[in-house]
Amino acid sequence: MAEHIDPTQTDTVHITRWQRLDPPAEGKAVTFTYIEKIDVDYELPEHAYEGFLIRFNGNLHAYRNSCPHMGSPLDWLPGRFFSEEGNQLVCHTHDARFNPADGACISGPCPNGLSELPLRSDGHTVEVPSALNER
Ligand code: FES
Repeated sequence: MAEHIDPTQTDTVHITRWQRLDPPAEGKAVTFTYIEKIDVDYELPEHAYEGFLIRFNGNLHAYRNSCPHMGSPLDWLPGRFFSEEGNQLVCHTHDARFNPADGACISGPCPNGLSELPLRSDGHTVEVPSALNER
């Protein structure tokens, strides 16, 4: 089954390089790093960020590993993003809960949802950004 494919060029995100990952099993996550340059018009420096790729209900989703509450990584234990029940993503800093399917804030101190990252997959392989610019 082909996953949804976000466009590589949008009004706000321009993917300059992709990296291939081994897709995670259902209810699991893999982390990756990528370089992001925010607002290319002002020539701000690039920074390395961490993202994570999950499989939930058979679908792949990629998010920035930064909680919208205070910017902490969600996983205290590397790679542990899901709740015990497996139906929510958890920020272990203050227990914010997110919907794995769209990153929306469900409960806790999160003011909004997770930032989703583009991915592309043909059903066998998956690629996530290794470098992107945001405008
Ligand atoms: S930093 Fe994630 S809930 Fe506070």
